[in-house]
Amino acid sequence: MSLRTNKCQFFLIYCQILCKDIYDNKMTDTELNILRNQINQLDDQILSILDQRSLIVTEIGKLKDHTKGVVDENREQTVLNRLLLLSKGKYSKGSIIRIWRELFDASSKLQLPIDSSITSKRSIEKINVYKGGKAKLSGIENIVKLSSNENPLGPSKKINSNINVKNLNRYPEINGETLRKQIARLHNIESKQIILGCGSDETLLFAALSFCQSGDEIIHAEHGFEMYSIIAKVVGAVSKLAKEINYKITVSTICDQLTPATKLIYIANPNNPTGSYLSKSEITELMSRIPKNVIVVIDNAYAEYVKVDDYDSGFSLVKEYENIIITRTFSKAYGLAGIRLGWCYSSPKVASILSRVKGPFNTNTIAQNFALIALEDQEHIAISVKENQINKNWFEKELNKLGIKTIKTFANFSFIESNKEKALLITKALEKEGILIRQLESYNLPNCLRISIGTLEDMKRIIKIIESLL
Ligand SMILES: Cc1ncc(COP(=O)(O)O)c(C=O)c1O
Repeated sequence: MSLRTNKCQFFLIYCQILCKDIYDNKMTDTELNILRNQINQLDDQILSILDQRSLIVTEIGKLKDHTKGVVDENREQTVLNRLLLLSKGKYSKGSIIRIWRELFDASSKLQLPIDSSITSKRSIEKINVYKGGKAKLSGIENIVKLSSNENPLGPSKKINSNINVKNLNRYPEINGETLRKQIARLHNIESKQIILGCGSDETLLFAALSFCQSGDEIIHAEHGFEMYSIIAKVVGAVSKLAKEINYKITVSTICDQLTPATKLIYIANPNNPTGSYLSKSEITELMSRIPKNVIVVIDNAYAEYVKVDDYDSGFSLVKEYENIIITRTFSKAYGLAGIRLGWCYSSPKVASILSRVKGPFNTNTIAQNFALIALEDQEHIAISVKENQINKNWFEKELNKLGIKTIKTFANFSFIESNKEKALLITKALEKEGILIRQLESYNLPNCLRISIGTLEDMKRIIKIIESLL
């Protein structure tokens, strides 16, 4: 039977059933079976077409230069664009994209040499393992680590005198209820809508695991936090990069990347490594422009450091928008990167979805206890933030005096724009003296440096070393 006859028959039966349905509101088994038979016939035809397609794909594979890889992403995008224009049926365009991306994946496997060893999903192969800032230098004992945006003052002093190591034979609170209540009290939010994570990294992952399937798209800044593109690949999604203007994404450059396949948007606010931020009105405008089914994750890892009037923690937006997730961490201003504790806040609906993805006991007893103590010492946060501001101002003024260009940041690091040679020269010279900073090669910004703000003494040493190079 041709596809055309099939379509007509299907339409007739569909109309009959619809009419009958209206009259007696019932569909008999016979009618259901007729429709299911139609589906079976269509499936047979689809399979036969897929078989034909696989033969052609295999032939194309033989013509490809395998040293250059078999995947041609531009060609895949062109195919998708064409099909999206043609697609007139009821399946969503997002589903059409996912189905064809699965086809592309299956096709690339046909074109590769036969390999019986274990292979991961295609997107996993593309992951560059997260290395983070350098933490060690061989032969140097006392390094100054300014490569991971940690708090140089460490955590609240109250932690050392308050270590509670009782009950370590018992599992921790399954969802960290006590800590969630304390967090909720501090920020005047609902504890039930808080999900704890092993670092905020884990909550970022929960979002993608909950809402993205293979073939979906995730938007993030072209120079956004490295984990976003890794997480996208983990879930088999495709990263779509929002352009930056002067190292800052805008509502428009984010919206430019929206397609029917967009499921998630990650925005670090402020951004790492560029330090720029979106104001409350920009975030609100963004929320009004994107579809309600797209989840927007506002990663507020550096929120405590932002002291400008038009910045907002975003918690109030959770009441207004069901599709927003705010993430926070104890790794930065709280000085507790070592305990791996972060959290996120979202609408009751989204929090309930995330809570199903979260493993039980994902944050441990010691981490929960330390975080509870740290929360009580808000004076320590205020001191840390103030000292960061003073040291950063001093440092950037001295850099500028030396002719080094800094871009204004709203977090606990400076962002330097130079050229690749100079960036490398400074990095190497500082390393020789045991000071670790981040040349931003892995962010595709080899001409830029990110230097976490340390103590005033650390920053003075850096200036002296750079001075000696010029
Ligand atoms: C923007 C941003 N988000 C999240 C994280 C991860 O933080 P956590 O230690 O809470 O996993 C970092 C760490 O550097 C970061 O820069």
